[in-house]
Amino acid sequence: MAKIFVTGADGVERAIEAEDGGNLMEALRDNGFEELAALCGGCCACATCHIYVDPDWMAQVGTPTGDEDDLLDSSDARAANSRLSCQIPVGPEIEGMRVTIAPMD
Ligand code: FES
Repeated sequence: MAKIFVTGADGVERAIEAEDGGNLMEALRDNGFEELAALCGGCCACATCHIYVDPDWMAQVGTPTGDEDDLLDSSDARAANSRLSCQIPVGPEIEGMRVTIAPMD
């Protein structure tokens, strides 16, 4: 389990426990962040699981590449620290990470 600090659409930060071996989108949905539509179910085909990673954690999770990068380009809300949460694996290396759910396009 990894503890992740998540700021939702209401601007409130909550700590969640994310299951190792899954991805961050699944953990966000399992913890009630319904504003994260995640319409494609994690296939990297929709960009509705867009989050902002705390800049201090970008080196750890890396920048988007390939399809993820292309999908994020379609978002008006893209920022330098944008990622698709379904493309971030959960494990001890992200223990303590802070993320913010991006606004819907
Ligand atoms: S859930 Fe569709 S791209 Fe992440």
